[in-house]
Amino acid sequence: MSLSVLILAAGKGSRMKSQHPKVLHKVGNAPIIYYPITLAKNVKAQRILTVVGKNSNQISDTIKGFSSEVEIVEQSEQLGTGHAVLCAKQHFTGRTGDLLILYGDCPLISEESIKKLLHLRETGVDLAVLGFDSKNPKSYGRLILDTTGVLEKIVEANDATAEEQTITFCNSGIMIADANLFFFLLDKVSNKNAAREFYLTDLVTLAKKENMVVQTTSCPENEAHGINDRSDLAKAEEYFQNSMRLKMMRNGVTLIDPSTVFFSFDTKIGTDTIVEPNIIFGPGVRIKENVRIRSFSYLEGCLVKPDVIIGPFARIRPETTLDEGVRVGNFVEIKKSNLHKNVKANHLAYIGDASIGEQTNVGAGTIFCNYDGSSKYNISVGKNSFIGSNTSLVAPLKIGDRVVIGAGSTITDDISKDSLALGRSRQVNKKKK
Ligand code: UD1
Ligand code: MG
Repeated sequence: MSLSVLILAAGKGSRMKSQHPKVLHKVGNAPIIYYPITLAKNVKAQRILTVVGKNSNQISDTIKGFSSEVEIVEQSEQLGTGHAVLCAKQHFTGRTGDLLILYGDCPLISEESIKKLLHLRETGVDLAVLGFDSKNPKSYGRLILDTTGVLEKIVEANDATAEEQTITFCNSGIMIADANLFFFLLDKVSNKNAAREFYLTDLVTLAKKENMVVQTTSCPENEAHGINDRSDLAKAEEYFQNSMRLKMMRNGVTLIDPSTVFFSFDTKIGTDTIVEPNIIFGPGVRIKENVRIRSFSYLEGCLVKPDVIIGPFARIRPETTLDEGVRVGNFVEIKKSNLHKNVKANHLAYIGDASIGEQTNVGAGTIFCNYDGSSKYNISVGKNSFIGSNTSLVAPLKIGDRVVIGAGSTITDDISKDSLALGRSRQVNKKKK
């Protein structure tokens, strides 16, 4: 049976009070929309479609940035979730197969929960709905079950009676049915409700009228968490971080104080790496085994090979590779550079657009002057070299192997191998007369 996934992301997101579309706000440093798209890929959807509003180039461009196979469906007026699904109707003419609806503002649903829902559908249920229990259901739609525990209807919070409001079994928004059944039923949905919207949730009542089998399965509340305002966004971030922390520790990474370590959606860390308190992993970080990351360090877009020690107070910026045994100490910033085996830059340095050979020592206060105000230039330093403290290396430069640079030098010319370079004025001592 072929599976298509339709992600609803055209809503105005007015409760976010933002100039940016809701689904482009970030959780774990990835736009929220990244998560349902990745989920759809992980459950092996043959087609992935996203409903976006008119002129949502920003959303389409972001999606294209991480996935080329997503089809964009336009909903020119936001008339409700049911109407949003209906906008995809012409994309399914002449096609068969199942349609799974995901919400663009629910980033935390797990693959496991979706597989439970897919399984329910495979057992012959016509419309399967994913619910969750919530102690504080606030604006979520309520799943009303009959006396035998079968789903009877979904009532939106605004339309619910006082008694229905007390129900804690809620609608995650996620459901699956035959694609053509969706469109057949959605043609009958009206907007006679508190919000004057065409609700997708009305499908349950309509399916029951057609004697269809409708059933629910459930997922944990944290997964179903929908983002409607900034406080929901902060809560989603908290859930995301907690689950990443747990995943890292289960995979053999030591987090000394998990609640102070922040990951990105794509952070990868090898076993026996120790992460001290107060560390931030921006996007694109890959850390191998047996690395130690000391407190108050900030890493992004870098590859860190085994047995490296970073920090405390280090900043590793994108396109940096630290080879085995490298030491990066306090107040060292590294950008777009390769530090080969056992290089040491232990104190107060800026290294940018550079390649540094094995065993070389970068002294305290060394600055790689890679920018002349308009362009950037590279510096290469050979192996087994020694850069004295408080040296400025003015790019472009080529510095050979086994070079020694005297402390306090300003280096503007290339240095060939096995040389001593001194680029400073001579000290003058004058006796008092
Ligand atoms: C919706 C559900 C509610 C459920 C909750 C779960 C309906 C009517 N209500 O409420 O039962 O408990 O999600 O989080 O379905 N969207 C469009 N076009 C539209 C309207 C919305 O694409 O015209 C998209 C939004 O971008 C969003 C999703 O659909 O990603 C849900 O819309 P939203 O307005 O957030 O609905 P909720 O009030 O959260
Ligand atoms: Mg919502």
